[in-house]
Amino acid sequence: MEKLEKLYEGKAKQLFATDDPEVLWVEYKNSATAGDGEKKEDFEGKGRLNNLITTLIFSLLKARGIDSHLVKRVDDTAQLVRKMTMFPLEIVLRNTAAGHFCSRLGVEEGLEFKEPVLEYFLKNDDLHDPFVNDDDLVVLDVCTREDLAEIAPLARRINEALIDIFSKIDVKLVDFKIEMGRTSDGTLLLADEITPDSCRLWDQRDKSGKVEHLDKDLFRRDLGDIIPAYEEIERRLAALAEAE
Ligand code: C5P
Repeated sequence: MEKLEKLYEGKAKQLFATDDPEVLWVEYKNSATAGDGEKKEDFEGKGRLNNLITTLIFSLLKARGIDSHLVKRVDDTAQLVRKMTMFPLEIVLRNTAAGHFCSRLGVEEGLEFKEPVLEYFLKNDDLHDPFVNDDDLVVLDVCTREDLAEIAPLARRINEALIDIFSKIDVKLVDFKIEMGRTSDGTLLLADEITPDSCRLWDQRDKSGKVEHLDKDLFRRDLGDIIPAYEEIERRLAALAEAE
């Protein structure tokens, strides 16, 4: 597969065309951003780790009946994915209170929810990705009721499968963000990435009682180096994939 012209550059990835019109080339970058892009730093090895972690998670999800845009990993920092028409949506699932749920609603971090919370944010840099509900999305023509009737159950199934995956490696899945799109034949698929950049992951092997973050909150909140944490997630997921 040949890597052709660059189509798009985001905060953490670059997207290239390939000689197959149905396939794109994704390069994972070493940069980390937080606070709506205000905080930015490069971490040697982050691109490689996120490429490995996304590939492992998408494979573990596939084994649980959930397909994604992933075709295959091609090298350390790159993977091939199916070309999709993306919904301009950040789909967030929360199992435990953290982050913006706490700041918005005045809830203490760590509150366990009696059921998962599904939230949508419109991808729009100028508006800083506003929180939106189903009606907003329909009247803005971002998606139809029928799309939402497919997106929401898929997002909840992904949450169930990810809880299962992470519980097997002694990690609590606090919350995460995913994106979805449709292939040229109209199939709804999980796309983008699932990495410690896009999830809150709390270590359950540490018995000290204090939260041990294995995710980008280490960078967002200046709690420590992200690379050893991402390496730990990669090691545990690789061991699980090997065992399954
Ligand atoms: O910031 P907030 O609490 O809304 O984040 C919820 C989850 O979504 C977190 O796991 C965070 O990593 C992820 N997220 C993301 N990209 C964004 C916003 C949130 O991956 N732009």
